[in-house]
Amino acid sequence: MTSNDAVDFSLMSVEFQLDPTATFAAMREKCPVHHTSEPAPHYSLTREVDVAGALRAEETWSSKFGPGLAYGEPGTGVLVSSDPPVHTAERLAITRMFKPSAIDAMEDDIRSLVYGIVEGFKDRGRGDLVADLGMPVPLTIMCWLLGTPVEDIEKFRTWVLPMAEAVAYVGGRQANDTVINAYKSYGEYFGAHIRGRASAIEAGDDVPDDLLTRLLTVERDGTRLTFQQVMGFCQFLLVAGSATTTLLIGNVVKRLMEFPEQFELVRNDRSLIPNAIEESLRFDAPVHGLFRTNTCPVTVHGIDIPVDSKVLMMFGSANRDPDAWDRPDEFDITRDLTTLKRHAAFGVGIHYCLGAPLSRLEGAIALEAVLDHLPRIRPDGPPALVKAPVLKGFETLPVRWD
Ligand code: HEM
Repeated sequence: MTSNDAVDFSLMSVEFQLDPTATFAAMREKCPVHHTSEPAPHYSLTREVDVAGALRAEETWSSKFGPGLAYGEPGTGVLVSSDPPVHTAERLAITRMFKPSAIDAMEDDIRSLVYGIVEGFKDRGRGDLVADLGMPVPLTIMCWLLGTPVEDIEKFRTWVLPMAEAVAYVGGRQANDTVINAYKSYGEYFGAHIRGRASAIEAGDDVPDDLLTRLLTVERDGTRLTFQQVMGFCQFLLVAGSATTTLLIGNVVKRLMEFPEQFELVRNDRSLIPNAIEESLRFDAPVHGLFRTNTCPVTVHGIDIPVDSKVLMMFGSANRDPDAWDRPDEFDITRDLTTLKRHAAFGVGIHYCLGAPLSRLEGAIALEAVLDHLPRIRPDGPPALVKAPVLKGFETLPVRWD
């Protein structure tokens, strides 16, 4: 029996989606370099030392074909689909928008937003934590960053998860109508929005000093990003910046309800909120993993990985690796915060999530508002898992409170 036969793994399988933790444990132990042809040929790395090591060796493990399973056209994507030196320049150009002082400056607005939303539904006594809170918070903030009217989150909320499903697709044929329509609607809406902003910049009109203006004006060797690159990056942001934070908010509240003694700890000591957020990210990484492509043949644990293979770096598994974490399968918000922050949920190395400080802040304020306004919050029926294969968390989370 080859080690590969020891574990039956596919991102698309129901068994994996229902219990990724068990699959990850089996892969780490029996088959740390797994190969499958489902839904298209790729390898997966699951041990922390391998995942972190590969992500830090970007000359070998390239992002040029993009973070999804499909091979993107090199040179057409931005940031998450580029390698140094292009990546370095792109990152430098937009880092300003995400640096801690810029995020701190948003704190009061984020707090008003979150408390306004929770105060709007708290008297109902029951609801869906994802639809009522987890979705609207990051989507509204995305509107602030991209300069779209906040009412349009009602449109965006129907596109985000179907677009996230496509990370594990290798061709349009796999896409169902919901996915196709989400892309079409995104293309129409953002095509017009980005063209409008670009024309205003061209005409010298006053435009908001937001991320979209930055993307449209940033220059690299005297050239600007193409329209297609800005379209692609905004689409990535909509999914990567909002769906993930939605999942974080659902995941942390779900685990605290599941482990009431942990809930009690944070109720009695609000200074544990950042630990609860970080432990949630470690325990339930919202993104199971993303892909790299190796620029030369590589052998890992005796398995030959041919050049240009798609290789899935499993952040979620690295976070549960007993060689990296003490009691990895125990949800414990009293872990040391500095150690906790070394989890891989935001990636590792040069592509480390630019939005990490923002999503940490959104998650922390959301949890604070839950503690303040939804007393004795508890499950109110079964939650529904997200359908996007690389994501972990809930599409609905019915809850009630006193
Ligand atoms: C809980 C929430 C979030 C999670 C779990 C998450 C996860 C990740 C991961 C795993 C990566 C690494 C990608 C790779 O290595 O290929 C990444 C990159 C990135 N994320 Fe996040 N993210 C979150 C929130 C956000 C937010 C709120 C934003 C922006 C508003 C954002 C923007 C980005 C960007 C721009 C990159 C690309 C960085 C680069 O390639 O240099 N993310 N994120």
